[in-house]
Order: sequence, then structure tokens, then C-alpha cells
Amino acid sequence: MGKIESVKARQVLDSRGFPTIEGEIKTKKGVFRGIVPSGASAGTREALELRDGGKQYFGKGVTKAVENVNKIIAPKLIGLDVVDLENIDNTMLHLDGTAQKSKLGGNAILSVSLACARAGAASKNQELYEFLGEVGGNKRFMLPTPMMVIIEGGAHAEESTDFQEFMIAPVGAKSFSEALRFGAEVYQTLKKILLERKLNANVGFEGAFTPKLNSNSDALELIVAAIEQAGYTPGKDIAIALDPAASEFFKDGKYELAAEEKSLSSGEMVDYLMQWIESYPIVSVEDGLAEDDWDSWVLFNKKAGRRIQIVGDDLIVTNTELIQRAIDMAAINAALIKPNQIGSVSETINAINLAKKNELRTIVSHRGGDTEDTFIADLVVGMGCGQSKFGATSRAERTSKYNQLLRIEEILGNKAVYNGKII
Ligand code: PGA
Ligand code: ZN
Repeated sequence: MGKIESVKARQVLDSRGFPTIEGEIKTKKGVFRGIVPSGASAGTREALELRDGGKQYFGKGVTKAVENVNKIIAPKLIGLDVVDLENIDNTMLHLDGTAQKSKLGGNAILSVSLACARAGAASKNQELYEFLGEVGGNKRFMLPTPMMVIIEGGAHAEESTDFQEFMIAPVGAKSFSEALRFGAEVYQTLKKILLERKLNANVGFEGAFTPKLNSNSDALELIVAAIEQAGYTPGKDIAIALDPAASEFFKDGKYELAAEEKSLSSGEMVDYLMQWIESYPIVSVEDGLAEDDWDSWVLFNKKAGRRIQIVGDDLIVTNTELIQRAIDMAAINAALIKPNQIGSVSETINAINLAKKNELRTIVSHRGGDTEDTFIADLVVGMGCGQSKFGATSRAERTSKYNQLLRIEEILGNKAVYNGKII
């Protein structure tokens, strides 16, 4: 039993320097918090991120969301038991009553939900990952294979590639900590190569490099070179994963690749991706097509789905209805999971369970604008999702999650199961 004694929220800053919301719960076990991240290339069907508008913080303040927690949510939650997280989340969903949480804000609701999950774990004297596993009915804790971004462009970095994320996945590592080391070594090696070639080695939102390149495939060449120079074999030790975030460059029915001065039809975009899969050790493509271009997803999954992982992000936005649609249409074979796309912990867990039940791989992900909150590290282990997408091996809002995974790996000791694969 962990009765909620008080609920409140405050406005804090995220890693991009914009306001976000922190929820805070008090029980007799102490004070528990959760901070909500924010997307830079958000899908249009995500839960509403309530922002103030007006002049302060260029309209990005979240004081209305804070007020919704303090005045509307708090009175209804005081006295409830944090152990029953579903009841708490349902109470907030009913209070909101809209499909996209547009009344209270998905950010307001999630901030409280995250804090309640932490309070629930404490009240049962459990680690957060254990509590989340129990809520979600999962007993098989698993350390994820990390997909770590190393070059970023698109909406995440000016002047870099059209594609948003180029990631490395150390599929040859034996443990999570070894995978992290492989990734960090390749990251530092890429930095050295960029400087040697007189390219920009500054980093973008997620800590990855943002060199100005003439084509998207130049990024792949650089990554392959970095993997080799760091002493690893591309494809065997370390594979490549992509998130083009194609909705961002899909304009009037065409995929506009500005860096290459190409304008591709849907069919040509599928061919373009197919060609890449042939030429490079790519094991995973997320949002290779735009969120409304469903038929092309189906085509791509049919052509490539047996060889590589095809991940829906903006396409399904952690929403069980859209995940079900993607399953029915055979549009994907993996689901990206972002708690703030849907706006509560219970619904996030439902999305993971629906995906797993239908044999979709699941990947827990951060956002472009993230924070020091490490919740998703516990979520990925507790729900046994098997893959993480937590950004580069640099910048504290990214490394905080990796460091939490290292702690969990240590706590689990010889019981630590490491996924180790993508496909
Ligand atoms: P975000 O993008 O900036 O919207 O979080 C990350 C992603 O597309 O996975
Ligand atoms: Zn994405």
C-alpha cells in the first residue's frame, strides 16, 4: 500500500533548453519525480503536448500543463494507491476524456504517471524495472541491444544529411556493457576521422556528429570506415541502423532528398532503401517512409521484412490502434516505443504487450529533446523489449540512460540476460 499524499508539477528545462514538465508525488516512502521528454520530429498522431503559446519561452512554456496537474489531476489522485498504476492512469484518462489527451495534455498526464510508477516501485521495495515488469506481466528481464546514433541530420541538425539518424548496433558484443564500449570506441574513432578530413565534428540534439556531407551515403561510408578503424568488422561485430524520419522530407507526394538534389516517388524511395540494404550492413530501418504512405510501408516490408528490421515510429506513435492497423496490413516487423507519444505508462505497457503478442520486435526510445530522467532504461529491461534507442554515447541526457542500464546489469549480476541481436 502506498497512498498518494500529494501531487504536483513544475516547469523545468529539457536538453534543448525548452521548458518541459516534471511531476512529483509524495507517499510515506518519500518524494518521487518524472520528467517528460519532447520530440523534434513528432508524429502528427501523438498525444498532445500542451504548450502555453504567448511570448514567454517563445510560446513553449508548460505552465498550463503544470496547472492542470496541480488543480485538476492532484485532487482526484490523493489517497489512491500507487501500486495500482493502471487505476491511477485510468483516473487521469477519464478526467481528460479526449482521444489525444488534448484537454489536460499528454505531457501533464505522463509526468504524473512516471512519478507514480517510481512511487509504486518504492512502495513494494522493488527496483523500477521489477515493478514495471510486474505491471506489464513480464518476468524475463533483458538488457537491450543498443542502437546508438553516431551521425544525425534532418530535423536534428542544420546542414547535415536529409536522413535524421545513422546508428550503430554492436551485434557481436557479449553483454550490454561490452556493446556500449564498442559503440563509444567507434564514436570516438569517427570524431578523429571527421577532424582528419576537415569535417565538422560538432554534435546535434542526440549527441551524434553532424558533418556537412554531399550525400546520405557519405554518412554510411564514414561509419563503415570508423567501425573498421576502431578494429571491428562491419556487419559482424557492429551493424548499421537508420532512421530517415521520412515524414520530415515527404512533400506533396515526393521524397525530397535536398542533400542529393533528388525528388523520389514512393516506389523510387523503396528502391533507394533496397539499394542501401544491398550495399551496406544495414539491419534496421525506422520510418524509411512517411507516416501517411501506408501502402509503401507494406511494399517495403514485403520486399525487405525477412532480412531486416522495419520499424514504425511516426507511423504508429505507441498507439495500440495504429499498431493493430500496422499488424493487420503487415506494414512493419518492429515497433518503436516512446512513452510521451501516448502519454501514460500503462498505455505504453499495453502498446509493448500488443506488439510482442503479435511477434513485433520492440525498441524503447528517447526523444530529440530529452532530460536526465532515466525511466526508459528501467522500462526496456522490465518489459524485456530487447532493444534500446537512447542516442549517442555522449551528452548527459543520453548517457544517463546508458549508465542506468549499467547499474541494472550490475544488480542483475549473473542473472543478466543480454539480447545481443537486432534480427
Ligand atoms: P524525435 O525523433 O526528435 O521526434 O524524438 C527521434 C526519432 O524519430 O526517433
Ligand atoms: Zn524515428
